[in-house]
Amino acid sequence: MNWKGQSLVSVQELSRSDIEALLDTAALMQEDPPAYASLLSRSILATLFFEPSTRTRLSFESAMARLGGHIISAPNASEMSSAVKGETLADTIRMVSGYADVIALRHPRAGASAEAAEVSTVPVLNAGDGTGEHPTQALLDAYAIRRQHGSLDGLTVAALGDLAYGRTIHSLSLLLAKYQGVTLRTVAPRGLELPKDLAAEVRRLGLRLEPADTLVDAVADSDVLYVTRLQKERLPAHLPRAPGLYAVDRAALDALPRHAIILHPLPRVDELPIWVDADPRARYIEQAHGGVYVRMACLAAVLGASL
Ligand code: NCD
Repeated sequence: MNWKGQSLVSVQELSRSDIEALLDTAALMQEDPPAYASLLSRSILATLFFEPSTRTRLSFESAMARLGGHIISAPNASEMSSAVKGETLADTIRMVSGYADVIALRHPRAGASAEAAEVSTVPVLNAGDGTGEHPTQALLDAYAIRRQHGSLDGLTVAALGDLAYGRTIHSLSLLLAKYQGVTLRTVAPRGLELPKDLAAEVRRLGLRLEPADTLVDAVADSDVLYVTRLQKERLPAHLPRAPGLYAVDRAALDALPRHAIILHPLPRVDELPIWVDADPRARYIEQAHGGVYVRMACLAAVLGASL
């Protein structure tokens, strides 16, 4: 795929070979960062974040800085941009596309990135749109998995958490569906299961989806345990939001194979106790750090940089 000038709104826009090419580029960049230090020296990234973020915004900005590019940032756009005055997202994006060469957008509304990409004259990278998707997170999840297991084909991934309102698992399940023979075992409290239409879609694409009753059942023979937090800011009022609704426990870690890895998009709250950090299979910090290289690869691709 020639990515130059393209937006990235959904994992659905990427083929398996696009994903592999991006991850290969990220790996090259991680091996030898100085070789890419001025790749985007004439480009400007705008980070426009209408929802809280630590990792996604800072790693996009770090990625741009590591490629020698420039950054303009609205980290608090829901309170500090002209949205407060009533400006529409479309108008804001029309403006920002005149100020920057690429936009990373986070917004509380599913579909906001697609709407932004429609009106933008520069690529829009979806950095999370409500309960919708978070494609660059799925790419960095895949990067962490590939670094451990070499390939995503044939793997079994156990996902624990709020699979309904968490967008990272939405993008990750669509990504896993592009690989051969992948099984996704899901463990979620009632009402927080993978949305039905998404489940149907990933099954149609070839992902083996296996809801499990307990975490111990789910992790047996798994290659990856992927944990997500309760998205309390997005839960409808009738759903439970009590802390401690679910968590990784000793029994699950005992049942998880030795070769497996534990991932989490972060931030964690109480679903991933800090004692898990001492487990050699815990990879979530490394996973987040890899996000810089994956986002470097994305920025270089949509800006058409020749590597
Ligand atoms: C995730 C998000 O914003 O969707 N965070 C991230 O980007 N790493 C996960 C979350 O907030 O739970």
